[in-house]
Amino acid sequence: MRVKIKRFTGEGFRWDEFEVPLEGKPTVLEVLSYIKENIDPSLSFRAMCRASICGTCALKINGQHKLACNTRAEGEEITIEPVDNSKPIKDLVVSHEEIYALLKKSKAWIEPKEEKVEVSQRDLLKTSKAWDCILCGICNNVCPPLAEGKDFGGPMVLTRVYKVLEDPRDGKGDIRLGEIVSLNVQECVHCSNCNLFCPKGCMPERWITLIEGKLLQRGLIRKQMDDFGFLG
Ligand code: SF4
Ligand code: SF4
Ligand code: FES
Repeated sequence: MRVKIKRFTGEGFRWDEFEVPLEGKPTVLEVLSYIKENIDPSLSFRAMCRASICGTCALKINGQHKLACNTRAEGEEITIEPVDNSKPIKDLVVSHEEIYALLKKSKAWIEPKEEKVEVSQRDLLKTSKAWDCILCGICNNVCPPLAEGKDFGGPMVLTRVYKVLEDPRDGKGDIRLGEIVSLNVQECVHCSNCNLFCPKGCMPERWITLIEGKLLQRGLIRKQMDDFGFLG
């Protein structure tokens, strides 16, 4: 199998090619590990769990954003690139600083109520899909407003925000809604790329729509009417 890898050198990108004699259907992560262990020890990429849990191995494989550890390398040739919408650091490794900054800005962690709160099965079901998020960032990598550099919290962070907003144990209530305004949820164009490419089926766009509805209802944001400019 021929493996073409787009590597960031510090000054720009270059494509390297490797012949990998692995049999069967190895995962892309196994292919990268083989190259690092047997051909080029300088090759850099991120991975930890090898089981679609840690979210660190997101890459662009044959042009599509996927997790390297749960994607099979098939065919005569594959291409592997760093993910989009992220600052490259070395080879296939990109910076996560922006993601950390957005998570911090969102304050998407539970601040518990004083009293004991019973969490019903219904409450759990409401957010169960959002709980599956492994923070791999793929939804952000395929999000057009983020690619255009818009000031937007993005699907990854908003999925986490939804989870906290709907958690009956959270004691912040309306204060939290006010804080979310700065994430500019109305920048979402509802293209559903995030739903399509999320490796865990978390459906970020669905939660964004619900958050947007709550903010609109409270008058905290206004619906953008640009798309209806022709009416004016
Ligand atoms: S649906 Fe919204 S959040 Fe998801 S990729 Fe499209 S613009 Fe981004
Ligand atoms: S919502 Fe899906 S694509 Fe986005 S960070 Fe979570 S697991 Fe990854
Ligand atoms: S190595 Fe952890 S998700 Fe792939």
